[in-house]
Amino acid sequence: MTWPLEAVWEQSVALLPGLTAELLPEIDSTNSELMRRARAGQLDPVVLVAEQQTAGRGRLGRPWQSEPGASLTFSAGRVLEPRSWWGLSLAVGLAIAEALHPSIRLKWPNDLWVGEAKLGGILIETASAGPDSQARYAIVGVGLNVLPRPAHGLSTPPAFLQQVCPGMDAGAALLAVVPALVGALQRFEAEGFGPFHDAFARRDVLAGRPVRLSDGTEGVAQGVDGQGALLVHTAAGPVAVTSSEVSVRPAD
Ligand code: BTN
Repeated sequence: MTWPLEAVWEQSVALLPGLTAELLPEIDSTNSELMRRARAGQLDPVVLVAEQQTAGRGRLGRPWQSEPGASLTFSAGRVLEPRSWWGLSLAVGLAIAEALHPSIRLKWPNDLWVGEAKLGGILIETASAGPDSQARYAIVGVGLNVLPRPAHGLSTPPAFLQQVCPGMDAGAALLAVVPALVGALQRFEAEGFGPFHDAFARRDVLAGRPVRLSDGTEGVAQGVDGQGALLVHTAAGPVAVTSSEVSVRPAD
């Protein structure tokens, strides 16, 4: 497969001057690589694509498995100075879903779903951007299944992009997604989660469904608030879930 890296760069650099786009045949994890670079003082905006990750990481310390040609794995890094970081993964997920297909839905806080199966996930990490700065270097890692993959070891069955976008390969997905993602980061930095709220709500997998949180809380999901917190109606009353350490599953 040929990667449309030049086109990705051309369509994104106007939004983010100084951006570079880079492809690596193999790396442990694109997020880990950008974290190493940031800690070494390299804070320039970059999109780093890996054909193969040997130690891909998901949220909550989970591994992220991917196969060359059957997956899209990349990270975007840039200095970001939002007023609040709440809701960033929701804004990123929304930008990706909108760039790919109307039927892709979002499962708070960082998953892309097709039907009841997981199409992909987002892992956001940040590094210091200097001693005096409120800003941080944001590393936004995106993993998407492009072709079918084995379900063993996964808590949610896998979906794949070609279910909803027949013929779309990883390169075409990258070209669709990166300019949208870069634009969403700009908007999030300037305006926060607010402008993304209503469009997120239209794709919210959990809204109106019984859910169980990893801390044992059970209730009915009621959408997200203006900050991107998950609202859950429990027997003890309404709860706003903000912790990124909590995982949530439909319980119906
Ligand atoms: C999740 O669903 O828990 C998040 C998965 C994020 C995977 C992507 S693949 C590119 C980037 N590099 C990583 O090691 N992880 C993210």
